[in-house]
Amino acid sequence: MLLRPAALIALGVLTLGACQMPPAEEAAEAAPAPVLDLDNKLQVGQLIAETRCSRCHATGRGDRSPHDEAKPFREFSENYPIRDLEEPLAEGIMVGHPDMPVFQLSPYEIDALLSYMESIQKPHPT
Ligand code: HEC
Repeated sequence: MLLRPAALIALGVLTLGACQMPPAEEAAEAAPAPVLDLDNKLQVGQLIAETRCSRCHATGRGDRSPHDEAKPFREFSENYPIRDLEEPLAEGIMVGHPDMPVFQLSPYEIDALLSYMESIQKPHPT
């Protein structure tokens, strides 16, 4: 059977409509999360830890330090409050590690890094 042109057009409009509506809604729902949310301090801190420190230190909750003598970050607070690292980091004193490159972090970066470290500390008796 032959469809008349008007019917064909109507069909086309219908299928077009059917095809276009759902993807538009999905796109709105599944808007991709930003790769890095600079307002998210923990995310910034994690990024710093992973890019600057994870070559030697375990920076997550369950990973192993690639460098045998570099303590996992999550265990730092066994010996001192994490915030005690603020000053040495700010003054660039944290260069005592063997092979460790000198790194300079801004106050915001230090705050973010320490906030992240605090967020992953293993629970331990205080
Ligand atoms: C090239 C390897 C290397 C890199 C990269 C590195 N570290 Fe270390 N770090 C070490 C080693 C090895 C030690 C243990 C020996 C020492 O203290 O000299 C250490 C020790 C430390 C300590 C003392 C921990 C304790 O309680 O004994 C802190 C704090 C620390 N690192 C922070 C950092 C931070 C923050 C970064 C990233 C910004 C970083 N390190 C990157 C190798 C490294």
